[in-house]
Amino acid sequence: MAVSRKRFSVSTLSADSSVIWDTNLENAPGDCGNGSARISPCETHLRTQYHFAAIIGHHESIISILKIVSQVADTSATVLIQGESGTGKELVARSLHDNSRRRSKPFVPINCGAMPENLLETELFGHVRGAFTGAVRDNPGWLQRADGGTIFLDEVCEMSPSLQVKLLRVLQTGDYSPVGNTQHRTCDVRVVAATNKDLRALVKQGRFRDDLFYRLNVIDIEMPRLAQRRSDISLLVAHFVEVYAKQFGKANVRFSDDALALLLAHDFPGNVRELENIVQRGVALTEDALIRSDHLPLCVTEPLHGRSAGQSFSAFKVSKQRVVERFEREYVKDCLMVTQGNISNAANLAGIDIKNFYTKMKKYEIDAHSFKVQAD
Ligand SMILES: Nc1ncnc2c1ncn2[C@@H]1O[C@H](COP(=O)(O)OP(=O)(O)OP(=O)(O)O)[C@@H](O)[C@H]1O
Ligand SMILES: [Mg+2]
Repeated sequence: MAVSRKRFSVSTLSADSSVIWDTNLENAPGDCGNGSARISPCETHLRTQYHFAAIIGHHESIISILKIVSQVADTSATVLIQGESGTGKELVARSLHDNSRRRSKPFVPINCGAMPENLLETELFGHVRGAFTGAVRDNPGWLQRADGGTIFLDEVCEMSPSLQVKLLRVLQTGDYSPVGNTQHRTCDVRVVAATNKDLRALVKQGRFRDDLFYRLNVIDIEMPRLAQRRSDISLLVAHFVEVYAKQFGKANVRFSDDALALLLAHDFPGNVRELENIVQRGVALTEDALIRSDHLPLCVTEPLHGRSAGQSFSAFKVSKQRVVERFEREYVKDCLMVTQGNISNAANLAGIDIKNFYTKMKKYEIDAHSFKVQAD
């Protein structure tokens, strides 16, 4: 079902030496910075016909997901969203709700891994007064509170075997019994589930019921890792700069080329959430609105430093480029230090042409004046 048209914003990167963004769609040519991601007619259609404003990305993997969401949002089919932590599973679950007829009713996210079994059971199915010590009044439970809406079962893989049975019954018949009561209740909720573990593998190991798996997996959505859609990084950076600059009351915040290049080369094991936190940190730390590489965390600027066993390695080319850049930055600074900020002498000392030396100074944002000796 196509819902009311909603404007969306896209972000662009300028070709300037520092990076600025224009979030006004009318001014945006659709090029998101490195020329690798353009808005396709399909994306334009999806974004103008459905509510997808919160989901940033032009990568084909994201567009396929938007397409599936648009096709199934207004059905009652159960959706299973799989993907690593921070890839946007909850965002997609919300967009399923927002694009359905249920959107005026509650969207209830429940983290099945964050509660002990008994608590999860009473929170989900409710309980009657006296059901257990401390149950001084009836609790309707989230299934009842979400009636007519959507319930989002995050980390569904953590559900105990007995709760899996109860959930299966809800999915098959729509009915259940609150804790301490044998009377049946019925509910009308759409179930969306998510997991960051391979649920099929857990079924094979006998740790998750296969009948429940098939019931949840009617529609499956696989969220890509951020490293699998690198062309969206600059777009996401622009989006989060805008969000946090507004939140922190800062104007014209932008990333330096150098800092952005480091982000573009980062692996993002924590996916979009990690990127969001890095941008938030940069916006908070910058004093003059320019986010430089020294505003980035060590895991981005010194990737070889804090890597523990088991973490993935960057490609050889990327790692080598980082080391070369680190060396060049320090080398140029050293030359300027020796020549007290005289660029021509520094270039001579390095044995490279002055134009080349100057280009490197610009690339690494090195100011020759800071090496001049001040006269007292
Ligand atoms: N495509 C995206 N566009 C904009 N923001 C995004 C996108 N994907 C994720 N985010 C943001 O990243 C953060 C993490 O997203 P979300 O909570 O949906 O991830 P998740 O897959 O549910 O993670 P977890 O498995 O840890 O619960 C949120 O702040 C969300 O708004
Ligand atoms: Mg989540």
